[in-house]
Amino acid sequence: MTTTDDFVLDVTRIRDQARQRMEKGPVTDTYGVDKDRVISILNDVIATEVVCWLRYTRHAIAATGIDRAQVSAEFTEHAKEEMDHALRAAERVSQLGGDPDFDPTTLAERAHTDYATPADHELKAMLENNLLAERIVISTYQEIIRWLGDHDPTTRRLMESILEEEEEHADDLVDLIGT
Ligand SMILES: [Fe+2]
Ligand SMILES: [Fe+2]
Repeated sequence: MTTTDDFVLDVTRIRDQARQRMEKGPVTDTYGVDKDRVISILNDVIATEVVCWLRYTRHAIAATGIDRAQVSAEFTEHAKEEMDHALRAAERVSQLGGDPDFDPTTLAERAHTDYATPADHELKAMLENNLLAERIVISTYQEIIRWLGDHDPTTRRLMESILEEEEEHADDLVDLIGT
């Protein structure tokens, strides 16, 4: 039977290890997952968020129709939050010792979602494009969170907090489609 008594921290070993490779900053020997893989996954999250920012920004400007003001305001708010997600992922890449990848030449191929803009700028079509994109990132981010497991709690919490906002975005869009 597992009890809390089983948890023994070898503080002496951890103190010795912490003193080694100080240049790695927050990345210590207890980091439980392939760091380069996490950096690469986060760089694809950055690409995804930038593409979502581009799409929402484009749609906010293009929106036409009777509910234009309300939908445009929602797209603008989502766009801001997508850019914030990109910046938070970039900050984490940097903490892990990687280079945040904002390279525009590879953004679209790295992103999980498409930069879809309906030709006629019809509100419902734009709302559906964005809802599809949100549903895709909700699934891919859930997969990332499951893969991270308990190995990198900080990246996991970052992704969980972003996921929570993507779920709110999807919910907002469903409400707007329904009105
Ligand atoms: Fe996002
Ligand atoms: Fe979103």
